[in-house]
Amino acid sequence: MEKSKSNKSKTTQKKCKFRSCCAILPTIVVLFVAYMSYKVYDVMRAPEMPDLDLDEWWGPPSTKVLQDTSIKQFKIEFSDMMLKDLRSRLSDYQRMKKTKNMDNTAWTYGVNVEWFQTFVNYWNTKYNFTERLKYLNQYDHFKTNIQGLGIHYVRVKPKVADNVKVLPLLLLHGWPGSVKEFYEAIPHLITPRVDHDFVFEVVVPELPGFGYSDTAAKPGLSPAVMGVVMRNLMQRLGFKQYYVQGGDFGFLVGSSMATLFPNEVLGFHTNLAMVLAAKPLLVWALGSFWPSLVEDKFTNRMFPLSERLGFYMEETGYMHLQCTKPDTIGLALSSSPAALASYLLEKFVIGTNPNEKFNVDGGLGRYNIDDLIDDFMIYWVTGSISTSMRIYKEWVRNFPVENAMHNTPTAVPTWCLQLKYEIAYLPEFMLRWKYTNLLGVTPMEEGGHFAAFEMPQVFANDIINAVKKFREFQIKK
Ligand SMILES: *[C@@H]1O[C@H](CO)[C@@H](O)[C@H](O)[C@H]1NC(C)=O
Repeated sequence: MEKSKSNKSKTTQKKCKFRSCCAILPTIVVLFVAYMSYKVYDVMRAPEMPDLDLDEWWGPPSTKVLQDTSIKQFKIEFSDMMLKDLRSRLSDYQRMKKTKNMDNTAWTYGVNVEWFQTFVNYWNTKYNFTERLKYLNQYDHFKTNIQGLGIHYVRVKPKVADNVKVLPLLLLHGWPGSVKEFYEAIPHLITPRVDHDFVFEVVVPELPGFGYSDTAAKPGLSPAVMGVVMRNLMQRLGFKQYYVQGGDFGFLVGSSMATLFPNEVLGFHTNLAMVLAAKPLLVWALGSFWPSLVEDKFTNRMFPLSERLGFYMEETGYMHLQCTKPDTIGLALSSSPAALASYLLEKFVIGTNPNEKFNVDGGLGRYNIDDLIDDFMIYWVTGSISTSMRIYKEWVRNFPVENAMHNTPTAVPTWCLQLKYEIAYLPEFMLRWKYTNLLGVTPMEEGGHFAAFEMPQVFANDIINAVKKFREFQIKK
């Protein structure tokens, strides 16, 4: 006892030699902890919801006085002149001396030239333009002016008996998508089934700058702001309340609609649920110390973190380019259909299943080649590749608004289809921080980033199942 006491006094004595330090150190620690706590609080708290102008004019200012709010029928056309020009450019590519791939590199250095030559040959000689044009026009197309932009969309009404409830569903594509992405899924969505009493009327628009929809005349039309345009489109069509589905950029647009218009969006379904907010990203990073604590079942979809970061480093160079100088790469791709297709095909390879880049066909056998070419035709004929890529630039430029969307929770009932090779994954509990009424997720052991395109039946079934759950939830409420 005695001894320890004397020891203690000794230490005190010793410490007091540094008296000034003794006083300052705790102060510094307290200040540091206070500062860090504030920083963490600052990062975690939801930024204020932006005040978006619901009537902002995105077309050329001179067109504002003449806005035509009518809805006009529309048809996709392949003119003879365009076809002749396209064929001659494809033939130019076929004649060109090509850089050969190195041995056994498949798609790891980018597009596989050997496979691609066969593809171009198919496009130029086998792809039936007449037949595919008919296919593309099988649904009713329309155009209407929203906030200064001519918006192109497909609208399909189901033919059903009176006792079947018809629910409006907005389907939002991403990049490099178009209305075409949903063509094979539409029949599944508009056909009544015995096991439920509803069916969808689908509205499939092309986002501003994509395909036949006009591009903004000024900067600022980021995905969240496009959500306003899409909401106004639904209002124009007479839908006060509706369901929304989106993947890729369509996810960002749709998620913003659920955040901005929770009284209009009846339910939100997505095949890419990612919350780009500090809290989930921090927990993801910290989770690398004990991955199974964060995600037990699909651990390898998030960890090892170094592997995920390596994947993003290797596969998102295009994104950096499009987030910064979309018009430069866009101009290059607008000059040659082969260049356009090679750039987009590589995205389909990596997005569908990145492991397929080690195979010569890149796993593209999962698609019908005609379906892919249809999509590229829409980009080529409209010359919209540059303007479609601007969405990336607007997305990063408009950070405060986009960030607020990720950080503001929404109570709109939500469901997420989680395909195996999707580019990003978050577990349910983290998604719930943003989607407080996430009613469930559907994890799959196959499929990739382009759900509607690659697995139309699975995609449609999951929407139907989700909407069933949304309706039960609303009744309970
Ligand atoms: C393309 O399709 C049309 C319409 O289905 C058909 O009449 C025509 O013979 C086809 N052309 C070729 C070259 O197969």
